[in-house]
Amino acid sequence: MNVLLTGASGFIGKHIKEKLLAKDHKVKEVTRSNGYDFNQMTTKEDWLPLLKGIDVVINCVGIIAENRSQKFKTLHSQSPISLFYACADRNINRVIQISALGADEHAFTPYQISKKEADDVLKALPLSWFVLRPSLVYGRGGKSMEMFQSLARLPVLPLIDGGKQMIQPVHISDLTNAVLTCLTSSETNITLDIVGAHSIALKEWLQLIRTSKGKHCVAVISIPFTISMVIAHFVKFIVPLISPDNLRMLQNGNIADVKPLAKFIGRMPLDLKTGWAKL
Ligand SMILES: NC(=O)c1ccc[n+]([C@@H]2O[C@H](COP(=O)([O-])OP(=O)(O)OC[C@H]3O[C@@H](n4cnc5c(N)ncnc54)[C@H](OP(=O)(O)O)[C@@H]3O)[C@@H](O)[C@H]2O)c1
Repeated sequence: MNVLLTGASGFIGKHIKEKLLAKDHKVKEVTRSNGYDFNQMTTKEDWLPLLKGIDVVINCVGIIAENRSQKFKTLHSQSPISLFYACADRNINRVIQISALGADEHAFTPYQISKKEADDVLKALPLSWFVLRPSLVYGRGGKSMEMFQSLARLPVLPLIDGGKQMIQPVHISDLTNAVLTCLTSSETNITLDIVGAHSIALKEWLQLIRTSKGKHCVAVISIPFTISMVIAHFVKFIVPLISPDNLRMLQNGNIADVKPLAKFIGRMPLDLKTGWAKL
């Protein structure tokens, strides 16, 4: 199949590209280094010429924090929505949108709300769509994973409320398998939460990262949520991932039912020990 892949230079995009090429699909990469900036691709007309001869579109563009030139509204809503309208015009067979866990009716941060806006438009269009909502994705080259690895190396773990927040990390291969399944699935027009086999508290996840590297577990220092929010207001300028909104999303938990994903890909996603060993 001829696949148009946006965000092909990113962590998830690169892994999806690798998987597609391994299955002999042809990939047209839409990246800023190829001259395609979502900030400039905000109308259907901007997208139509790129869709000639394309069977499947996969959108992997996203940001976790805004800056002066990168806004959620443009990158998560306006540009993808224009792309989806263009797909409907061109009768593209399948459109796969990489959204995010929490981009649902309870969405409460600009990140989640902007993702949901695009998801909702896609779902209303007369084409075969797949909205994949990953939890925290880990694997080779992931930025959030690098941050967790750095955190896990500290001699003590300073964690919000002692790191009791529940997360459900999913290995990149489970996400890429889900994407490949979308290409041939007879079931279409589905929203799927992409989560790992088990949920785990953040503090246990970090200790697991430590012990997998042969290190001992270390003590956890609990930082009250209110104090973390104040710290995040300043730290976000240095580490955008640590923003008040992102802490609020973490505090809210990041888990979902794994059964629909297991059914879709025909097996349980990897458990954390197996997934981590693959890194
Ligand atoms: N990683 C996770 O744990 C996770 C979890 C849930 C959902 N997601 C979602 O999955 C998607 C991909 O995430 P990721 O982890 O692969 O992120 P990433 O590594 O930061 O990649 C983001 C991609 O978006 C592209 N991009 C950013 N701004 C752009 C612009 N103005 N125009 C065109 N392309 C632009 C980047 O291109 P450049 O190389 O040009 O910067 C890159 O290819 C995002 O939508 C994210 O919200 C990720």
